[in-house]
Amino acid sequence: MSFERVLVVGAGQMGAGIAQVVAASGREVLLHDTLEGAVERGLQTIERSLGKLHEKGGPEPEPVLARITPVDGLAEAELMIEAIVENVEAKKELFRLADQALPAGAILASNTSSIPITELAAATSRPGRVIGMHFFNPVPVLALVEVIRADQTSDETAEAIVALARELGKTPAEANDFPGFVSNRILMPFINEAAYAVMESVAEPEAIDTVAKLGFAHPMGPLALADLIGLDTCVAIMDVLHHGLGDPKYAPCPLLRRHVAAGRLGRKSGRGFYDYA
Ligand code: CAA
Repeated sequence: MSFERVLVVGAGQMGAGIAQVVAASGREVLLHDTLEGAVERGLQTIERSLGKLHEKGGPEPEPVLARITPVDGLAEAELMIEAIVENVEAKKELFRLADQALPAGAILASNTSSIPITELAAATSRPGRVIGMHFFNPVPVLALVEVIRADQTSDETAEAIVALARELGKTPAEANDFPGFVSNRILMPFINEAAYAVMESVAEPEAIDTVAKLGFAHPMGPLALADLIGLDTCVAIMDVLHHGLGDPKYAPCPLLRRHVAAGRLGRKSGRGFYDYA
């Protein structure tokens, strides 16, 4: 499948990044979000990112932007990539609606970080054409796409999405549908443990992140990364790991929960483990 026309649902940091890389590959993108002003903000994010890439020899921003069209509803496309809030009921409802709105042959993909793809597939009448296509933030920069097969995903669907990931300039890594897949099964306990280290006064956030940056050569430390991802998203993913795997070692750190309750969500709210004011 060539996926000439792709519907991206959700214009937040992930959806905007996905729309950008799909449009940069020469495809037509339809960008939809139900939140007032979200698509406009998403387009501004894309414009800034394209500007940075252009300075370093990337494509002219204008033709890429011209291939992205804001749409009010779930328009016809050969592929939907969903990047809405990490809430299982909201995603299932969207998959039910997309199943009705998109042609029978279209593939429905989710960028979820941890919600079971098998449950999303079961909400549709085309479970063989449902798959996980998990990008990494910042999407225009990071080279990985984790491709997750639901229990029901057909070989044909998986092969088409692996091929598409390569055409977007990404490297696909295939995983089966277990809580957190590969990426968040590994990353979130690392972030959670760093939050425990802050809570138990093992060290200051800067020292913890310095250990990861200079000691393990990570591009950023786990607490700065948690702020980039969003502490609310980190808690939501830990909850999925905890409930899905049933092991208390995955319980979200109380400090993460407390920051979220206080509205300290990370970069997007101006404060998380660090202050961005
Ligand atoms: N668009 C285009 N270019 C961008 C960009 C964007 N959105 N963000 C950063 N860049 C570019 C910068 O312009 C810069 O380019 P030059 O090196 O040519 O100057 C380069 O990327 C590096 O950026 P910075 O100099 O600002 O800072 P940095 O070297 O610390 O890199 C980073 C920033 C790319 C975010 C890097 O720190 C990094 O890779 N961090 C780890 C991110 C990570 O682990 N992400 C995965 C999160 S998990 C996830 O997304 C999924 C999930 O399920 C939770």
